[in-house]
Amino acid sequence: MPKVYDGDLTKMFDIAGKKAVIFGGAGGFGEAIAEGYAANGADVLILSRGEEKLQKAVERIKKKAAPGVKVLYRVCDAGDEQAVIAARDFAVSEEGIGGCDILVNAQGINKKMFSWEIDSEFWEAALHTNVTSMMYTGRYFGNWMKEHNTDDGKVYDESTFEHGKASPANGYGKIINFSSVRGIRAVANGGMGNVPYNTTKGAVEMLTKALAADLRPNIQVNAIGPTITYTPMMVGILPADPEIRNHIADSEPAMRIGFEIDVVGPAIFLASAASDMVTATTIYPDGGLVWTS
Ligand SMILES: NC(=O)c1ccc[n+]([C@@H]2O[C@H](COP(=O)([O-])OP(=O)(O)OC[C@H]3O[C@@H](n4cnc5c(N)ncnc54)[C@H](OP(=O)(O)O)[C@@H]3O)[C@@H](O)[C@H]2O)c1
Repeated sequence: MPKVYDGDLTKMFDIAGKKAVIFGGAGGFGEAIAEGYAANGADVLILSRGEEKLQKAVERIKKKAAPGVKVLYRVCDAGDEQAVIAARDFAVSEEGIGGCDILVNAQGINKKMFSWEIDSEFWEAALHTNVTSMMYTGRYFGNWMKEHNTDDGKVYDESTFEHGKASPANGYGKIINFSSVRGIRAVANGGMGNVPYNTTKGAVEMLTKALAADLRPNIQVNAIGPTITYTPMMVGILPADPEIRNHIADSEPAMRIGFEIDVVGPAIFLASAASDMVTATTIYPDGGLVWTS
């Protein structure tokens, strides 16, 4: 598939044959996206720290995958620079998925604590997992895309780049970082105790824009900023009773909190040629929270 839409209207959102690397791919959002990509014909490699969770997720993803699609996992702490380099080398090898067209950063941690009782250890861990790990993956996978993903085999030569002129190369690369509604909204009602988490997500918003500026013109870097969703991350943070939980969003346009599936459409759009002119921005599958609260 060419990088830029070539006139076949049925192929605008086509990701068949693409190779997707998904950090946090055994988590709520990561697994949903892996299923969506695999169902649409993309090979997927999911990565996180817990091997058992990865193995179970691979089995579920395989059930939804299109015929012939590769679904693999690798244990990787995205906060460990050497582990990310090794994961990149594995991903692009024949033993892996043989390349990387799409990188999804769906790893993350969250704990609520008021500013007057911030646990410094958690603060550091949150910055490292939610921000530094995305720098590592963006750096090593982004760089690989930059050097390898061209349709005509010509590798983009930075030394000939002229400011104000587009590169003639037709490379393909899509990076999708998980931000949150909390990256730009610190609402008091439902948003208390979020100083560490919100700070990391604000950083993800800017990391995304800055990476997009650096990796231009062939790689689009965007973020997805979902609303409150009852994924494994939110067990113990949100009320266990679905009746009570769903009332959290009563005042918002969608009148419900999110489901994992709500991020899959945006993730397919941001991975496909349909979004080739979309970069350095965030899509909020938030039921309207960001602009109405
Ligand atoms: N759920 C929400 O309400 C919500 C709303 C907005 C944004 N988000 C964001 O969406 C993303 C996905 O969250 P989720 O809700 O799907 O949570 P989740 O189910 O807990 O998934 C997060 C995944 O990240 C992995 N992970 C954590 N630290 C890691 C590390 N150092 N290296 C590699 N993987 C790591 C975890 O696996 P291991 O622990 O096994 O490594 C887990 O599978 C996060 O960035 C989160 O902040 C969530």
